[in-house]
Amino acid sequence: MIISVSAACEKLKNDDVVALPTETVYGLAGSIESEKALHKIFKTKSRPFFDPLIVHVCSIEQAKEIVSEWPKIYDVLVKSFWPGPLTVIVNKNDRVSSLISSGLETVAIRVPTGPMLEIIKKVGPLAAPSANKFKKTSPTNSSHVLDEFNSQVSVVEGGPSQIGIESTIITFKDNELHILRPGIVTAQTIKESLKGSLFENCPVLYKESTIAPGQLEEHYRPKLELTTYINQSIDHLSYDNLTYVWKINHDESALVARELYQKLRKADKDLYKRMVISLNFEPDDLWTGIIDRLKKASFHFNRI
Ligand code: TXA
Ligand code: MG
Repeated sequence: MIISVSAACEKLKNDDVVALPTETVYGLAGSIESEKALHKIFKTKSRPFFDPLIVHVCSIEQAKEIVSEWPKIYDVLVKSFWPGPLTVIVNKNDRVSSLISSGLETVAIRVPTGPMLEIIKKVGPLAAPSANKFKKTSPTNSSHVLDEFNSQVSVVEGGPSQIGIESTIITFKDNELHILRPGIVTAQTIKESLKGSLFENCPVLYKESTIAPGQLEEHYRPKLELTTYINQSIDHLSYDNLTYVWKINHDESALVARELYQKLRKADKDLYKRMVISLNFEPDDLWTGIIDRLKKASFHFNRI
């Protein structure tokens, strides 16, 4: 059911969960103070308890209220990227239950844009993983959420998500910034944001995380068989009418991020058996988040 912002606030104050739009993807939200709502998030998603949740807050000040330390470099970064698609990992304090952190000493935090930000200002910090079943494609509009949970989850309408893939997750470790999950905020944009600060020379590295289970190999899998070709032409291949073919151009990274999950879901719904995605160029840093999702969603992944 589609519900209003005020109805969503009521539910969140009463230990319930609600799906909310964000600029990246829709999230399934519950108050960090409500053990009951947190349990319901895991149950609704069929998510294993070993996969920790992101906490969404409304400001840097509110982020600092739930942590036990705050690396100074994050002040520089969040000034550039919050509200927005950057999640930082920090040592948590007691306000963050071990259910949220899956027993880790750390917590993932970001400030989102849109109606969710207004809701957090009214009801406090919200834990919210993407509003999909575990390992499935994240939802980028309200009908994806309703389809995913057979209309059993209430959702606030926010239109199509503007970014379309999940936030970039970073951690600061041994005086280096590690990108645990790539996204629209790239290593290059992070380096640019550090220019002129004390941290100008801090290395920014892509490092797949073993502690972020969202980085499991088979994430974001559609039902159909997806084959991806990177940096090669598919013009010599031919396909039957049960195969959806998507040829992508070099200057389209923002559009592709926005449409990727929507196209995967639509092709599943339209009962295509196969999908072929082709990028006939060497992708630059802007494509890192998209390539990561394609790799995890693909049955066959071909890269030269
Ligand atoms: O854009 C987003 O980040 C969306 C919207 C709703 O904000 N949320 C999202 O949440 O993608 P989720 O749960 O689908 O992905 C969160 C990822 C998981 O891979 C989880 O393992 C990782 O964040 N994570 C959470 N807490 C962590 C921690 N303390 N250390 C390392 N990874 C963590
Ligand atoms: Mg997810």
